[in-house]
Amino acid sequence: MTDMTTTSSLAEQDQLLELVRLLREKGAHRLARKVITVMSAKGGIGKTFLAMELAWLLAAVLLDLDWDDGNASRALGHHHDRFTRVPLLDALETGKAPRPKRSSHRPDLVPCHPDFAVNQPEPEPLAKLITGWSQEWDRGVVADTHPGGSDSTLGAVGAADLIVMPVVLGTRELNALEGALKELVGYPILLVPNWIPPTPPAAERKRLRELADTYGVAVGPMISTYSWLRTRKLRTVITAAPTYSKRTLPVVRELTAVAGAVLDHAA
Ligand SMILES: Nc1ncnc2c1ncn2[C@@H]1O[C@H](COP(=O)(O)OP(=O)(O)OP(=O)(O)O)[C@@H](O)[C@H]1O
Ligand SMILES: [Mg+2]
Repeated sequence: MTDMTTTSSLAEQDQLLELVRLLREKGAHRLARKVITVMSAKGGIGKTFLAMELAWLLAAVLLDLDWDDGNASRALGHHHDRFTRVPLLDALETGKAPRPKRSSHRPDLVPCHPDFAVNQPEPEPLAKLITGWSQEWDRGVVADTHPGGSDSTLGAVGAADLIVMPVVLGTRELNALEGALKELVGYPILLVPNWIPPTPPAAERKRLRELADTYGVAVGPMISTYSWLRTRKLRTVITAAPTYSKRTLPVVRELTAVAGAVLDHAA
């Protein structure tokens, strides 16, 4: 029994590693010059988690537009106080595209900085800049946004070929989603149910379906609840690991399905 389990999870691991390789290849081609913006009307529901993993899975540049320390930059081990230059702020000043920072097992990153809070451009010029950078890089961009409405989030939304919104099946979360969908009518949106318990609440599932139908937005594959995620300390993305463990296999499988949906909707 143990042997069979080990053999089948090894086979699944090989399959998933191959799938991730293929997704990155497709992402590099089909998402070049496209902008994916990850945003939500409610904080703390998985934007940063999704943005980091999707950027890796689609071989896109992760553009961090969240200046708080709970952001992707910090999660990936970038401490802003250890660097004298801030590529994002320099780029706003000079108009030249920032050079993404490369490091292993992480997506290429344009890190954010606390000063971006007061230095962010107005939505329209920022949208133009982001579009211009993705063209200059000839790469896809996954932008992670600050919770709550800000000029930079509006700018990233304006530049987006696809808006990815994690959605938690809770009453207030769905109220917030409804408000956001009203404001974003006409934008291409992919909702990604996240943090889904083993038995998803039926009424909230129905409400999500109805909201998606009413506002004509897509619902992607869901991501389950993984209690260990909250306290994970590794400063790398899960899907970039050279091998997957029994613990990470299920979340990698779900994330590859979401990345596939993003490719279909954005490309
Ligand atoms: N499916 C999930 N299961 C369990 N934990 C999750 C899940 N998705 C995200 N988390 C965890 O929840 C916490 C908040 O997630 P994350 O930082 O991605 O949210 P956020 O929407 O970016 O928050 P903020 O609005 O503050 O930027 C993190 O610790 C993350 O690892
Ligand atoms: Mg975040």
